[in-house]
Amino acid sequence: MTLGNSANTSNAKLLSWVEEMVALCRPDAVHWCDGSGEEYDSLCDQLVEAGTFIRLNEEKRPGSFLSRSDPRDVARVEDRTFICSRSAEDAGPTNNWCDPDEMKAKLLGLFDGAMEGRTMYVIPFSMGPLGSDIAHIGVEISDSPYVAVSMRIMTRMGQGALDVLGDGDFVPCMHSVGAPLGDGQQDVPWPCNADNKYIVHFPEDRSIWSFGSGYGGNALLGKKCFALRIASAMARDEGWLAEHMLILGVESPNGEKTYICGAFPSACGKTNLAMMIPPDGFEGWKTWTVGDDIAWIKPGADGRLYAINPEAGYFGVAPGTSMKSNPSAMCTIEKNTIFTNVALTDDGDIWWEGMSDEPPAHLIDWKGEDWTPGCGRPAAHPNARFTAPATQCPSIDPAWDDPEGVPISAFIFGGRLSTTFPLVYESFDWQHGVYLAATMGSEATAAAEKQEAIRRDPMAMLPFCGYNMGDYWQHWLDFGAGLQNPPGIFRVNWFRKDQDGRFIWPGFGENMRVIQWIIGRVTGSAGAVESPFGLMPERSDMNWNGLDFDDATFRALMEIDREAGRREAEDQLELFQRFEGRLPAEMEVQRQKQKARFDSAPEVWRLPEADTAVASAGE
Ligand code: GTP
Ligand code: SPV
Ligand code: MN
Repeated sequence: MTLGNSANTSNAKLLSWVEEMVALCRPDAVHWCDGSGEEYDSLCDQLVEAGTFIRLNEEKRPGSFLSRSDPRDVARVEDRTFICSRSAEDAGPTNNWCDPDEMKAKLLGLFDGAMEGRTMYVIPFSMGPLGSDIAHIGVEISDSPYVAVSMRIMTRMGQGALDVLGDGDFVPCMHSVGAPLGDGQQDVPWPCNADNKYIVHFPEDRSIWSFGSGYGGNALLGKKCFALRIASAMARDEGWLAEHMLILGVESPNGEKTYICGAFPSACGKTNLAMMIPPDGFEGWKTWTVGDDIAWIKPGADGRLYAINPEAGYFGVAPGTSMKSNPSAMCTIEKNTIFTNVALTDDGDIWWEGMSDEPPAHLIDWKGEDWTPGCGRPAAHPNARFTAPATQCPSIDPAWDDPEGVPISAFIFGGRLSTTFPLVYESFDWQHGVYLAATMGSEATAAAEKQEAIRRDPMAMLPFCGYNMGDYWQHWLDFGAGLQNPPGIFRVNWFRKDQDGRFIWPGFGENMRVIQWIIGRVTGSAGAVESPFGLMPERSDMNWNGLDFDDATFRALMEIDREAGRREAEDQLELFQRFEGRLPAEMEVQRQKQKARFDSAPEVWRLPEADTAVASAGE
């Protein structure tokens, strides 16, 4: 074995862990990542040489690369993801569990010689601004140079993280693509282990082992594995929150700034909302991006909640991203971006479904095959992604890197629900809000391999909560009870459809109208009426400048069917019953209250008839 360079740390735990892993995995070489630009460039050159990267046209997409994964390695593998707490009950009914000793024995077998013929990269990183009280250090060991360069974009990676670490503690994140190269064996552009993947978390040890996949959340271990699954368990023990949430700042024309966190399941609009641009009719309003996927939230000395984005880049869904749907994202990915599983144009640029109305006449699709419009195959994989530095986002918040974080005034929760659920409603109080968040459902997206029609996705954390979801709800309840003035909690649904299957709400930038009402509610200036689900805006409570959206359509978007509401409450019982002894009593109390509200509701609950005089005065 050769040492590419040497460790610039004296951290004893780190040095002995690396030594142990070298002995186990038997790589050809070890490379300690320093995070420099030179290192990044040379790894990218190496990836081009290996055929993993295609350098894109320097004029059209400077500093950018296309990567095509193995078609058997395209998304998170939830059925191969494990929470190995000592007791199965601590993992809970929504996680796969395996005895930790048994799993460790299995992993030691899998990692034995797993890096033969490859270089082992030691990748130190900080989740959160270097040195922030809310941040934590991790070190990923990986045999994938694609992971090493992606981690440089997605985290604060390199010597800076080692310096902050000093002699302190870190989360060890062990990763192999699970494809050792025997004597003289030729490598492939995207090595992986097609049929033996394990994404494993040991919450009590605070350690991660991932085998067999090189894609996204399976392999960039700072993201879902550390910043959500392990961090959620740390947060429960230490009294904070680690959430699958975007962080958005909204500045009013008089310069007042309000921050909100938003939880939406994978591929349900966090990046869109995090980068949203106010529509016509909102002159003087500005929106600012702090984060698009994960928030770490701690109570501050002043009793308010402060959030940081633990990441430093965006691993965003490519299909559907366009100058119309998300111009900020399109600017963010103009340069220095890694694209995975998108299509290649004849002039060396990239394309995906929804980027333009007219597809190019010819492309190379995500599998490397010729593609023409109407050939019947998608050009980009539906879970194709871009990896881009946060600093390239034109709406990046000046405080995005502030170690103190930003103060949070509201939490919003939204699934992809084509029926039953109105555009927006507010909880009556914190407990009711936790119930609304815990019972959120959503329709399937391509971000996970396994496809179900509709599933409960509590707090958008179903695949990401590192412990028993019942205990997680209790943690949320306790957390709010300890706050003097907790943020408001809202449910939103951009995805309700009409009888013809079309979205009723225009969404995207127009969501600003809903956000403005939410801000009005938490600052005390906006009105609301009570519905069986919660508090809702009347038409006159919202700003309609610049949008032609008639009252009848708005009332249809906001109406609530009593039978559907009752069925929903019954269906929630099924969810709750899975938790047996771990369900907080408050959840069932809230469900009974919701049922009672539906029992006394009209067959179809509607907003009060608009008073035309009031409505036009609000416009
Ligand atoms: P992960 O990165 O997987 O956690 O997901 P994300 O929540 O960041 O997903 P993203 O913002 O990339 O979601 C993209 C999908 O949501 C695309 O299919 C968009 O068309 C859709 N989407 C986003 N906002 C809206 C909206 O306001 N209305 C509608 N109808 N679709 C939306
Ligand atoms: C998600 O699936 O929620 C993502 C993408 O943000 S991944 O990092 O692959 O989990
Ligand atoms: Mn996500």
